[in-house]
Amino acid sequence: MITYLTLLALAPQPLLHDIVVAPKIERNTLVVAGSKPYQPTIYPDRIVLTPAADAATAQHVSWRTDTSVTQTVAEISLATPTPGLHRQARTVTGTSLALSSGNGDALHHQVVFTELEPDTLYAYRVQGGMQQVGDNPLQVAWSEWFQFRTPAATFKPYTAVYFGDAQNAVKSHFSRVVREAFRTAGEAMIMVHAGDLVNSRDGEHDDEWGEWFDAGGWMNGMINQFVVPGNHEYIEHDDAPRTLVPQWPTHFNLPKNGPEPLQDTVWFTDFQGVRYISLDSMQGLQSEAYAKLQAEWLRQVLTDNPNKWTIVSHHHPMFSVSLGRDNPQLRTYWQPIYEAFKVDLVLQGHDHTYGRGQNVGTGTHGQLKKEGPMYVVSVAGPKMYLVSDSAEETMQASAEELQLFQLLNFSEQRLTYEARTVTGELFDRFELVRQADGSTEVIDGAIDTSSPLYKHRCTNPNKPRETRCWNGTELIQH
Ligand SMILES: [Fe+2]
Repeated sequence: MITYLTLLALAPQPLLHDIVVAPKIERNTLVVAGSKPYQPTIYPDRIVLTPAADAATAQHVSWRTDTSVTQTVAEISLATPTPGLHRQARTVTGTSLALSSGNGDALHHQVVFTELEPDTLYAYRVQGGMQQVGDNPLQVAWSEWFQFRTPAATFKPYTAVYFGDAQNAVKSHFSRVVREAFRTAGEAMIMVHAGDLVNSRDGEHDDEWGEWFDAGGWMNGMINQFVVPGNHEYIEHDDAPRTLVPQWPTHFNLPKNGPEPLQDTVWFTDFQGVRYISLDSMQGLQSEAYAKLQAEWLRQVLTDNPNKWTIVSHHHPMFSVSLGRDNPQLRTYWQPIYEAFKVDLVLQGHDHTYGRGQNVGTGTHGQLKKEGPMYVVSVAGPKMYLVSDSAEETMQASAEELQLFQLLNFSEQRLTYEARTVTGELFDRFELVRQADGSTEVIDGAIDTSSPLYKHRCTNPNKPRETRCWNGTELIQH
């Protein structure tokens, strides 16, 4: 009798040399070497909303095409429940910036929609190239219609999201964070990225940007992205200060309301009664003059600030969480201003750990009614470092090896903050309650010591370095 096992034995067996074994190399993207999935085309891609200085009445957007698309054109309409948006849309033109990368030559188009009504739902689309193929008529490669709601002109409760570094294996590992955040808080109106959106600064670097825009996908076209630069947005040079990667000003259409010459990275927006301020800690650390320049500008921006809440974000932490790191220059020039002007929350990255505290400056924790901003360091991507002993002592909450996103719920008198793991569990929580004198009382909601997430520490038995749990580049090889 011929059985299945007999047939199996008779079947030709693969020779050893037929079995393909991928070389064990560290990779930072899912792009297979030699392929080019992120080359620009006539179709608009990398579409992203960034807020205007006064976000209630204007909206910035940018997108990418190949260099055949020499006109920068978008259309905007009030969003209606009926189709045919193009009939009432108005056409808006803008400017484009050229960028040459490993993916070829591209044009990055930037438009500002102005004269918008606050708290109103709009629809827009952006124009790509025109092409005539065969006997077909000349056709335009439009984007889909995206919708966004302008913020209200004055404070109104809403939700924001904050991410620490994405940086490594962005499509492979960061995408699930940004998508879980969207699933959890789809009503969020703005998302803060506290620097190091990608890792490499040159070479195949543009693929990493392709992955960052893949991760956020169409969400970037409907929710404003508040982007803050990190050290990995800067190119290192042998004999000169680091310089900003060309991908930053080309991808992000920012209001340029910061101090010259840092207007590509230092900026702010008033967004439905909350002022978000981006500082450039890379420039602040590599140049004392730029630390002072930002301090002077910050003082002006905080002096004239009618908003209910004030959020500052910069990449390098005021108080480091990870082993062997410290940025005293930020404390010298920026910390006194945060305290003098009652900044509510400081959102940071860089340390690839989680740390949250209000009184870290005094070396203590537990005195939760003292004035002063709440400092947070978080991480979204898979590169993971280890928490220092001093941070463990001085911070109300800390963790290693958790991919996290954070929700900020603003109401008139209360800012409710939650850190959630990528798998949805509540990891950290606190509330800032506005007092009559303008100060805030903190209600601590740190998770219980019985939680398996409490002071979560590295589980990787093969730490790549003494200070690291994961490099983040060892995750795509299999
Ligand atoms: Fe960093």
